[in-house]
Amino acid sequence: LSKIEIKLSDIPEGKNMTFKWRGKPLFVRHRTEKEIATEAAVNMAELRDPEHDKDRVQNPKWVIVLGVCTHLGCVPIANAGEFGGYYCPCHGSHYDASGRIRKGPAPLNLEVPFYEFQDEDTVIVG
Ligand code: FES
Repeated sequence: LSKIEIKLSDIPEGKNMTFKWRGKPLFVRHRTEKEIATEAAVNMAELRDPEHDKDRVQNPKWVIVLGVCTHLGCVPIANAGEFGGYYCPCHGSHYDASGRIRKGPAPLNLEVPFYEFQDEDTVIVG
């Protein structure tokens, strides 16, 4: 399937769900208020691949990224690592709750795919 429809009310606040899309893992994360505030406040000068959180999300509650580490392609673990976002156990890359690389060998942020909100509870990825 080239597109996937995701029902957002199935994903509780603070949780990340993994879907399969075009043969790859797709992460959909329902962020907490605290995560939203933390990621919005990150200083761009601290980032290896500088991108503001607002340029990575359409709605700050929802982070939608490919679950593919930008180092060598392992699947990171959600809600783990030193920055509270994702941790890739293969070689120790730490991503924040915006999916941005913060520490470890990965060069780039987790990729944001094309997506559109169809209504408040539905997002179409692809
Ligand atoms: Fe993720 Fe190497 S593949 S750190």
